[in-house]
Amino acid sequence: MIIIRQARAGDEIGMQHCNLTNLPENYDMKYYLYHLASWPGLSFVAENEKGRLVGYVLAKLSEDEACDAPDGHITSLSVMRSYRRLGLAERLMSQAQRAMVEVYNSTCVSLHVRVSNQAAFSLYKHTLKFE
Ligand SMILES: CC(C)(COP(=O)(O)OP(=O)(O)OC[C@H]1O[C@@H](n2cnc3c(N)ncnc32)[C@H](O)[C@@H]1OP(=O)(O)O)[C@@H](O)C(=O)NCCC(=O)NCCS
Repeated sequence: MIIIRQARAGDEIGMQHCNLTNLPENYDMKYYLYHLASWPGLSFVAENEKGRLVGYVLAKLSEDEACDAPDGHITSLSVMRSYRRLGLAERLMSQAQRAMVEVYNSTCVSLHVRVSNQAAFSLYKHTLKFE
């Protein structure tokens, strides 16, 4: 069984492993901790029955002071290969988006995705209805 829960201090090693395995955009440990400390409750992890992290969404609020509303931003999303197409990314994203609205009153959320990344593009555009 896979559980989705809020990310907490101590998860950064598992998140970084999941990131390094699946994405070319990599971050040092401090960057994960910065997210968890600055915007608690916005980032989520998927954990398997052995307590291993198999997916994460790292989220934050916009740091652009020109923004009126505290817009959300998805910094990174990743699910380990053998756990894909189980709906984990959709659930991770939904939890992060809900927290942005309920905890921080965000009115919109942004992210970057390569047009060539068909899996992610389809997730955002067709499943989650991003414009
Ligand atoms: C993109 C990624 C996060 C999707 O994770 P996932 O847990 O497999 O996604 P889900 O199971 O929640 O899929 C939800 C929807 O996304 C789309 N999708 C997911 N994988 C897909 C694929 N390989 N091809 C086409 N569409 C795909 C589908 O619309 C899917 O809905 P469906 O299963 O009902 O058809 C995962 O493939 C991944 O980690 N990729 C490498 C890292 C990455 O690209 N991160 C995003 C950077 S912007």
